[in-house]
Amino acid sequence: MHGSNEIYSDLDTLSHAAAQGFMELADRYIEKQGRFNVALAGGSTPRRMYEYLATDEFTDRIDWSRVFFYFGDERSVPHDHPDSNYRMARLALFDRVTIPPSNIHPFDTELEVRKSAASYARLLLNTLPREEGLPCFDLILLGMGPDGHTASLFPATCILHDERLAAAVYVEKLHSWRLSLTYPVINNAAHVWLLVAGEGKSGILKELASGKGADYPVNGVQPRGELKWYLDRDAASLLEGVQ
Ligand code: 6PG
Repeated sequence: MHGSNEIYSDLDTLSHAAAQGFMELADRYIEKQGRFNVALAGGSTPRRMYEYLATDEFTDRIDWSRVFFYFGDERSVPHDHPDSNYRMARLALFDRVTIPPSNIHPFDTELEVRKSAASYARLLLNTLPREEGLPCFDLILLGMGPDGHTASLFPATCILHDERLAAAVYVEKLHSWRLSLTYPVINNAAHVWLLVAGEGKSGILKELASGKGADYPVNGVQPRGELKWYLDRDAASLLEGVQ
């Protein structure tokens, strides 16, 4: 299991800690370069963290005008669809803080998926600083599915080998298209945080920690910068003595 990990008693304390870390990192990068470029994770786990960022404890301590939001992946649905990662982040955070709409970059899900992915790749090239010639996020937030996928990098899919910066992928078991950043961008980030909670993830974490999870897509997340896992006790329950 690459990177470092912090284990919290439950999802709520994990989310609060991640929000605190987000605020500290945002301050550091805004101080250093005048902006903070972050890609958000989808799914359900990060929602509480986003909600915490919108609370009085954090919202007035972050200069939102200098925070620029992108997405690690998106479902191929309209932005007002219940499955939309953009919608989840909008309800949990964007609608509750004062942030210029031009600071928020969702995937364009009205476009044909391949055109949307190509458009997003151009956006990354045109708006992010480069490190070693590739767009460089200050922070990428990720989750992990029960099959070891992360973002929309699902097992046995062609996107795992895609050298483009963003790609469309048809996920057979979900019978749906997804849009996602690819490993070249994810692994070029300065900080990658994986938020993983719940007993359903404990078996995969044990395999990863014991070196048996080589084929899980999440194992391909090996950024040049920091990799940190925010785990709750249930997800980490099988890690005792493994690491
Ligand atoms: C998505 C996410 C995906 C998610 C995992 C974990 O669009 O669903 O990007 O990679 O992080 O599936 O999802 P949960 O947090 O809901 O367990």
